[in-house]
Amino acid sequence: MSDAVIHLWPGLPKARIHPNIYGHFAEHLGRCIYEGVWVGPHGLAPHADGVRLDVIAALKQLRAPVVRWPGGCFADDYHWRQGIGPVEKRPTTANLWWRQTEPNAFGTDEFLRFCRAVGAEPYICCNVGSGSPREAREWLEYCNFGGDSSLTRLREATAGAPYGVRYWGVGNESWGCGGRFRGADYAKEYAHFATYLRALDPSIELIASGTHYGDYKDPILNTWNKDFCEEMHHADLIDHLSIHRYFSRGGGVSFTDAEYHAVFADLITLERDLELTEAVLRYFYPDKHVGIAVDEWGMWHPEATVENGLEQAGTLRDAVFAGAVLNLFNRWARRVTMANLAQTVNVLHCLAATDGPNFYLTPTYHVFDMMRRHMGANLVTQEIETPAYEGHPLGLGKKLDVPALSVSASISGKRLHLTVANQTAQQDLEASVIIHEARLAAAVGRLLHAESPRAVNTFEDPKRVASRRIKVDHAKNEVVFAFPRHSFTAFSLTLE
Ligand code: AHR
Repeated sequence: MSDAVIHLWPGLPKARIHPNIYGHFAEHLGRCIYEGVWVGPHGLAPHADGVRLDVIAALKQLRAPVVRWPGGCFADDYHWRQGIGPVEKRPTTANLWWRQTEPNAFGTDEFLRFCRAVGAEPYICCNVGSGSPREAREWLEYCNFGGDSSLTRLREATAGAPYGVRYWGVGNESWGCGGRFRGADYAKEYAHFATYLRALDPSIELIASGTHYGDYKDPILNTWNKDFCEEMHHADLIDHLSIHRYFSRGGGVSFTDAEYHAVFADLITLERDLELTEAVLRYFYPDKHVGIAVDEWGMWHPEATVENGLEQAGTLRDAVFAGAVLNLFNRWARRVTMANLAQTVNVLHCLAATDGPNFYLTPTYHVFDMMRRHMGANLVTQEIETPAYEGHPLGLGKKLDVPALSVSASISGKRLHLTVANQTAQQDLEASVIIHEARLAAAVGRLLHAESPRAVNTFEDPKRVASRRIKVDHAKNEVVFAFPRHSFTAFSLTLE
């Protein structure tokens, strides 16, 4: 008898999983951009036009769909004109949120060249906090306008044809570092900015800054999304509403098993954010499908501080957790249109770490690699019978059952993709996977596991936590899979 049963109905596909759910976020913060992405023309690491080749190769392998830039909090004090033209003429400025000096060597053209090299769509977040609708609209003109103007001539001198940047965010965390607006006040600002952006280029997608609910006791934040949507009644001006969510329990590497479990319990609050945000969007925009963009998410451990540039170690726990979050986004494919892990290199829940020419991939990178096939596939109807443990999600004020296994499945053609996170620290589990109304022809799998959930990769031992192929014996339509404690597994099942 198996511990759990996973039922899949590949003949009952649901929503398409938007590839942008597997997106990234790179801010001018600590060593994310400078050193992490950009080493410049005289950099110590191998590079193309100043961008690290190891980072380009890693993101290309993931088929990274979208990168959000330049922040974060940095975005609401960024003036894009300071980052274009000859580098020696660009000013150095204060990066006020992250207490650094900004050399402005990596600006719009460098970012857009980086995205092209990776094959990702750029997502630019405009400055609402200390900027103006005019500054934002001129940025769009510089990037996208096909007609003749002084700004397009300026772009043509370095970059040539319009870049066609599709995603434009109007401010970041406008309830906090982005200007401390109330929801209704931000709605007025938003409509103001969005009117001019949309008029200049109707093909762009606009992202408004929203907030999560979960653990905030603050009554203003609890009604922010509602207050914003109620006031911003121009549905034509909004395509996505963003929410951010960071998680932390115990230290990054030093945590107890109870803390391992607690963070998976907290994931329930993200689902609650999605439910509440979806309800608001449905109510205020009944005739338009406005997506939810979780355009910052990840683990933020106590050791990541402004003083150390928000650097932290990335363990196997972080990776399994990332897999569970991505499974959740897949299951929410009907509404989640984008998600961006914070942040790409060296900062917070990163995919890769650098030190001069040295480089390694974190365990979380491998989860993104193992989940690649979900991008653009159709979510499959699923039902799970799984053991559960008791959890006390932060801010919910009640206990809930946390499923031991987190699952999502999708289909593209005859290929069924199944990804499973074992959310327990100590329990090896076996699950029967029953595929309804279809027969299996072949099955292959990959496993990400180590003896401890605290295992990390380092410059000295860069492959300590890496995925490996596993053998799968399959019967016609029922397979029994083993899911070791604190592991992440991906299967590719071919149907007859
Ligand atoms: O990712 C670090 C910071 O977290 C971002 O700048 C901000 O948007 C969020 O609060």
